[in-house]
Amino acid sequence: MGLFSSSTKQVPPIQDLPQHVAVIMDGNGRWAKKRFLPRVAGHQRGLESVRALVKACVRLDIQYLTLFAFSSENWRRPPEEVTFLMSLFLEALDREVRKLHEANVILKLIGDRSSFNPTLQQKMLEAEQQTAGNTGLTLTIAVNYGGRWDVVHAFNQLLKDKGAVTEVTESDLTPYLSMPYAPEPDLFIRTGGETRISNFLLWQLAYTELYFTPTLWPDFDDAAFEAALTSYQQRERRFGRTSEQLSTDSGTS
Ligand code: IPE
Ligand code: IPE
Ligand code: MG
Repeated sequence: MGLFSSSTKQVPPIQDLPQHVAVIMDGNGRWAKKRFLPRVAGHQRGLESVRALVKACVRLDIQYLTLFAFSSENWRRPPEEVTFLMSLFLEALDREVRKLHEANVILKLIGDRSSFNPTLQQKMLEAEQQTAGNTGLTLTIAVNYGGRWDVVHAFNQLLKDKGAVTEVTESDLTPYLSMPYAPEPDLFIRTGGETRISNFLLWQLAYTELYFTPTLWPDFDDAAFEAALTSYQQRERRFGRTSEQLSTDSGTS
């Protein structure tokens, strides 16, 4: 039985650079604390790292970049911090979309939008529509996203479409998940030193190479990204097979 029958979409061609990079941008608060600044100053500074990483991906011709900006659990933070993050996000949409559009970036937003205020929901929709025809990097921002929400939401959508099904397969479900337009991430990066997934992409990370770095998100620069890419290049992606099979197979079944 080959991997084509598994929900891991396909065995990606082993390339030097990942096609899809997914990032948990963590450590903003600690970055600020170290400098005796309020936590929100860390978020502000974190936006600079986002800009730099998007530019690096465009330059390197990486096709998909997915960033975890706000988790479904982040509502538990102090209300002032949540409000600040929402306004930073709204401001970033206002200011950055034109530049992203000029850079030929396709912007996508994933997560449960229903709890955002209508102005923000409208802006999100407009930003996606404005960049939908582009052909460069696909930048996906996960806001009010949770990996478990994603799977349950997909299942509910499938039930709505298909009616009273009694059994579904993995490949029935995958088109309903949050990123049907992207291959599964090749490389996952988490900054800030924690070695957990924190309810980010659960289904989609099944075979992703994981990279954890103590570097705090506002300090994550081109050199830090290069270190992550170098680590990725040293991995052997076997997708269930043996090392020996990889050197004899063409690696596609
Ligand atoms: C990540 O940085 C940004 C968001 C979760 C929005 P944190 O705010 O979690 O920073 P630390 O982990 O407290 O340092
Ligand atoms: C994960 O970071 C979510 C984002 C980066 C948006 P957190 O800092 O919220 O994660 P936990 O709760 O410490 O695991
Ligand atoms: Mg954190």
